Amino acid sequence: MGVTPVNLAEYEEAARGCLPREVYDYYAGAANDGITLRANREAYERVALHYPVLRDVTVRDTATSVLGENISFPVMVAPTAFHRLACEQGECATARAAARAGTIMVISTLATTLLEEVTAAAGGRTWFQLYIYKDRGATLELIRRAEAAGCRALVLTVDTAVWGRREADVRNNFTLPEGMAVVNLAAQAKQAFPKGVSGSGLAAYTAEMLDASVTWPDFAWLLTQTKLPVLLKGVVRADDAARAVELGAAGVIVSNHGGRQLDSAPATIEVLPRVVAAVAGRAPVLVDGGVRRGTDVVKALALGAEAVLVGRPVLWGLAVGGEDGAYRVLELLKAEFDLAMALCGARTVGEVERGLIS
Ligand code: FNR
Ligand code: LAC
Repeated sequence: MGVTPVNLAEYEEAARGCLPREVYDYYAGAANDGITLRANREAYERVALHYPVLRDVTVRDTATSVLGENISFPVMVAPTAFHRLACEQGECATARAAARAGTIMVISTLATTLLEEVTAAAGGRTWFQLYIYKDRGATLELIRRAEAAGCRALVLTVDTAVWGRREADVRNNFTLPEGMAVVNLAAQAKQAFPKGVSGSGLAAYTAEMLDASVTWPDFAWLLTQTKLPVLLKGVVRADDAARAVELGAAGVIVSNHGGRQLDSAPATIEVLPRVVAAVAGRAPVLVDGGVRRGTDVVKALALGAEAVLVGRPVLWGLAVGGEDGAYRVLELLKAEFDLAMALCGARTVGEVERGLIS
């Protein structure tokens, strides 16, 4: 690595320099024109923080908790696929980085490392993100494995009924290299991308494997199949959020998949207040998409989120420096959050007030 990056954007630049082109494109990519990808960032940039003055912020604490889990700051690691494309240790490196930073990693269904190994690397504390396969038996098997491994919650992602068209992946014929697979699926046939397809191998895989017919009753069914709390990820509407909570969701994650699914989905920080109002304190609301600065975390909290998740920045850290790189990304964000909190007159997460945003 040349000069050590001093912020998350510089980590992306450094990662771009060290990743194979098709891997960088897959990680960075968005659906179609990238309208939603840009909207996520631009919306954060438009929010101003109306800070109060003359408050004693000498002593501060960034810790908080989500669903009873203590975390060192209100940032978690979003589920992202294929970490072994970024570094040899893959998801285990991410898990160790998240644990060292005092937070929780959400393991993707499409991880390239066994979820048991990842949870062990995290010191026993992870969440597991679920995609519902056409094969419900295989889906249930994933849930049982996550439970047995000690994952503390399930995150059902619901913005992927069909796959967004990431044009860079189509152009690059994106696929997994030899020796890398979707290893958490027990059946060999579900581990590899289909052979001989042109275009995105991932899109071909998901079209073949994932169930586009999933509806609310399936979510209700899923809740009966596990004692773990289940959060619904990929919600942008107040009515959907309210419905999820009424059915028994343990939490809602406002997300548009980092702009990778419906291009023209709204910026998440813009819809967050509506979702928070609809959920009305019945469950925690989390948000992801475009969080790159400590001030973004303050903005999300001031608008009612309990915590945020970051996706791509962790991958940039992994690519640049493996576990240490991912750890440094999280620590940078924590330091920025602490600074932003202090300049907003807050000593604790609880003191981040709604009044910061007029
Ligand atoms: C994702 N995301 C994602 N979500 C999910 O539920 N399961 C998954 O396997 C993946 N995989 C994935 C891969 C890559 C490369 C990216 C960039 C994203 C979406 C992810 O959880 C999250 O919603 C976004 O990444 C948040 O936006 P930012 O922080 O990347 O801007
Ligand atoms: C993605 C997945 C895997 O966005 O959710 O690429």
